[in-house]
Amino acid sequence: MIESVFITGANAGLGKEAARQLAEKPGIKKIYLGCRNPRKAQDAKKELEQATGKRIFEILTIDVSDLKSVRRAAETLPASVDALIMNAGGTGGQGFNQLNSDGVTRIFAVNLLGHAVLTEELLKANKLKQVALYAGSEAARGVEEMGMKRPALKSSSIEEFVSIGNGSFYGPTKDATTPYGPIKYMAALWMSAMARQHTQIRFVTMSPGATTGTEGFNTLPPLKRYVMKGMMQVMLMLGKVHKVETGAQRYLDGLFNPRYKSGAFYASKKGLTGPVGEQGKIFSDINNETYQDNAYMAIQRFLK
Ligand SMILES: NC(=O)c1ccc[n+]([C@@H]2O[C@H](COP(=O)([O-])OP(=O)(O)OC[C@H]3O[C@@H](n4cnc5c(N)ncnc54)[C@H](OP(=O)(O)O)[C@@H]3O)[C@@H](O)[C@H]2O)c1
Repeated sequence: MIESVFITGANAGLGKEAARQLAEKPGIKKIYLGCRNPRKAQDAKKELEQATGKRIFEILTIDVSDLKSVRRAAETLPASVDALIMNAGGTGGQGFNQLNSDGVTRIFAVNLLGHAVLTEELLKANKLKQVALYAGSEAARGVEEMGMKRPALKSSSIEEFVSIGNGSFYGPTKDATTPYGPIKYMAALWMSAMARQHTQIRFVTMSPGATTGTEGFNTLPPLKRYVMKGMMQVMLMLGKVHKVETGAQRYLDGLFNPRYKSGAFYASKKGLTGPVGEQGKIFSDINNETYQDNAYMAIQRFLK
């Protein structure tokens, strides 16, 4: 039974909506709102308390792109949690392709490295008990509708995954959607490797699907933001994307429904919305254990 959940990036978009939906579920006693900005965190807590009438939210300061902050958050988490939702992420903000002191790009740090360290630290401290859910993306298999190519890896070696981490895989770019897909792909492989290493925990990669009404595109350059937001509005009218309630519901499905298997990656069966399906049945490389272990080991290289 899931009674306590830690959500990263909980002050906006899908993370905040997931917190709201969780609070409405019977049996949920505690929700930790993992946020980097104390003012936004307070505002979100207040809004969630008002919307749900529940006083079960607690703020935990965490910047997932800063490993010191990640380790501190794991340490200061006052009690173990039944579930972790690794939701913070997206396009990485201004300077998404710049390297940080760990030798990874900012977009990699926020979407993958920080969550990898957070999960490891929680497991080491015996503070994660049942489910680890990662916010995957259809971008991991390419999104034709939005002009995102399928990540084309040549060898899926450790070195190639390291190159996704330090950005040399795709080189200089001003377009955050270029690294985004390969990083989400690598994250799904890392999750599968973790599932085989920690069999007591269910590791589920779940894409929320193309979701409007979040702040995900706000850090893109103005023209790209305008194009992407416009495209989302048109696609919403055509029923090809969905609202934040539906996206966050997918997280809850992944947490509570054991039919979502450990180590598997779920995303829209077709397009960017609608029923989800196991992606390993659509593209088999996601089930390749060597690739999964290589993705895992590439992450370890950045932690030395
Ligand atoms: N929306 C979609 O269509 C879609 C589709 C597939 C996957 N996803 C994935 O779903 C997740 C949530 O997306 P969203 O659309 O809800 O995005 P969003 O509205 O931009 O919300 C992102 C949340 O993450 C937080 N965050 C960003 N960087 C952080 C950091 N370094 N440390 C801690 N928190 C950080 C943000 O906090 P601040 O307010 O402080 O910036 C915000 O609370 C992302 O992982 C995204 O890749 C989204």
